[in-house]
Amino acid sequence: MKNTVNTLKEAKEQGRKISMITAYDYTAAKLFDEIGIECILVGDSLGNVVLGYEDTLSVTMEDMIHHSAAVARGAKNAFIVTDMPFMSYQTSVYDAVYNAGRIIKEGRADAVKLEGGVGFKDHISAIVKASIPVVGHIGLTPQSVNALGGMKVQGRNIEDAKRLLADIKAVEESGACAVVLECVPAKLAEFLTSKVSIPTIGIGAGAGCDGQVLVYTDMLGMGGDFNPKFVKKFAMCGDIMRQAVTAYMEEVRSSVFPAEEHTYKIDESVIEQLKGTN
Ligand code: KIV
Repeated sequence: MKNTVNTLKEAKEQGRKISMITAYDYTAAKLFDEIGIECILVGDSLGNVVLGYEDTLSVTMEDMIHHSAAVARGAKNAFIVTDMPFMSYQTSVYDAVYNAGRIIKEGRADAVKLEGGVGFKDHISAIVKASIPVVGHIGLTPQSVNALGGMKVQGRNIEDAKRLLADIKAVEESGACAVVLECVPAKLAEFLTSKVSIPTIGIGAGAGCDGQVLVYTDMLGMGGDFNPKFVKKFAMCGDIMRQAVTAYMEEVRSSVFPAEEHTYKIDESVIEQLKGTN
């Protein structure tokens, strides 16, 4: 059954935890959808994970739409949330609505996600007014890496914690259907979760959130140099892939692969006739 904004709302009301995972292509999305994940995030972590950028700042609307549409073709039931990339909404409320519309129309997402709290109330409200569900994102907001002075845990002192409370309230009041809390101390995330009626989805924010999200290549141990403490590696798929491709390479080099069972047959007489042809 298709997951919708109502699934998120009911999950919070019933105290059922929400699972969200990133995906950037058809194959991964189909796989995660088939096992019943509620939400797939087409994150702008696409920039780091798929496109090899240092950060998310270079990711474009075209990148997000292209990958969101691929995910949508693979995931039939998951609620698909696609990130609005850097400078697709910060520039104006008009741009925010226009670009959110493109992500829904061309990227076939069910909702958009954007980073920011108090400063983005108008943007979120306007997108919601256009009947587009919005997921907020506060705490560590990677698109503000330069303004934040690096990728750091947020809200550790009273001023910052108050700012996060104001941010989450602003996101809720603007009509967002959920909010991601990234790199926030667990007790603060739990407190913030208790202060809003919309579900909180944590990443590096402890078990007190209403749900969790992880970047799939991180939690599947697919390599990369990003190893923060909040990522649990549920498998070491990078090692499995390395071993498998090494075995393939060795079998190609030693002519073990392809074997008889991997080849197509032809009547011997055809080859004999061919040999007699100039
Ligand atoms: O881009 C992304 O994958 C995200 C998650 C880290 C929440 O925004």
